[in-house]
Amino acid sequence: MTSHNSLSKPLLNVLQGRKVWPPPIWLMRQAGRYLPEFQALRAKANFLTRCMTPDIAVELTLQPIRRYQMDGAILFSDILILPWVMGQSLNFIEGKGPVLEPIREERDLNALNEEKVFEAIAPVRETLSILSQELPSTTTLLGFAGSPFTVACYMVEGGGSRDFAQTRKMMLQNPVLFQKLMTLLTRATANMLSAHIQSGAEAVMLFDSWGGILPPEEFRKFVTEPTRQIVEILKSRHPETPVIGFPRLGGIMSVDYAQKTGLDCLALDTVADMARIAEMIPENMALQGNLDPMILLNGGEPLVTEARRIRDSLKGRRHIFNLGHGVMQQTPPENVSLLVETVRSV
Ligand code: CP3
Repeated sequence: MTSHNSLSKPLLNVLQGRKVWPPPIWLMRQAGRYLPEFQALRAKANFLTRCMTPDIAVELTLQPIRRYQMDGAILFSDILILPWVMGQSLNFIEGKGPVLEPIREERDLNALNEEKVFEAIAPVRETLSILSQELPSTTTLLGFAGSPFTVACYMVEGGGSRDFAQTRKMMLQNPVLFQKLMTLLTRATANMLSAHIQSGAEAVMLFDSWGGILPPEEFRKFVTEPTRQIVEILKSRHPETPVIGFPRLGGIMSVDYAQKTGLDCLALDTVADMARIAEMIPENMALQGNLDPMILLNGGEPLVTEARRIRDSLKGRRHIFNLGHGVMQQTPPENVSLLVETVRSV
């Protein structure tokens, strides 16, 4: 039986197997620098402090909910919090992005401590419990993590990269070490997401931003298989909690990923033809996506036309409207209002 409370949450309803029209909507990076109220708080504390101070993280999570009444509220945090709380040094540098002390050898890996994670994310757990009290009754609270492969890319490289050459090199030259890192991250990610769920997250999402750089065999081994293991662990502990997977730039491999992982929802990037992929994946799987963030930034009639096209092309499927990647910094906030209005008007 479904409680009244969960029936009043359109996004959770879609994830749990019901069709909802018009589709619920939220956006990746809906809390961010394009919002003036985000900029105002940004001056007050650095990024990691913002993530780890419950009052601030709650406020930042709520900003897009207040402004746009999004159907989903995603925890304000980052995928790199996990390596950081395991002991890897991390800084966010203006104009450069994340910088970490790279993991290149066995002893770098041995210095990480996954036992510390639960305690160290106490402020994140606190943020989620406050949010689960404060959110409107129709909003679904989402926890998240990076996928083991994507997080490993940043850990090995020591930051962002176009090709993650050091990471690919480790995979090829020291497969035992790389597998050890993947095994550690798979377990730690499942445990962290489990903590998110215990603290009030109603669904969780795995961001695999870089899986799309891998050839098929490696994609299966380092993207699909760890995702399957994480879903298996989560389902054994929290059978009712839906899991969304986002294999960005996964192309045709996304189909195999959707079939083998046991995920409840497949999130697709901008380049994916959602309606066609919908025909290739299990019928009971929901889809999320996939408006081009550039079309959102540009606004106007092209935005209205494309948003309607995506929405209408998935009518009859379980669909959560979203972007194909995060909101871009220069996006005028009023374009987001136009998008939400468009998706909700039938
Ligand atoms: O609103 C939300 O979507 C929730 C919070 C969230 C952030 N990062 C906040 C953030 C989420 C879900 C993420 C995911 C994330 N972080 C990913 C996966 C999705 C993707 O974008 O591919 C990745 C790869 C990261 C790592 C990361 N964090 C990078 C590369 C950067 C620097 C780029 C940038 O925009 O500055 C960050 C920083 C970051 N994470 C910011 C925010 C709001 C900007 C920090 C600031 O205010 O300066």
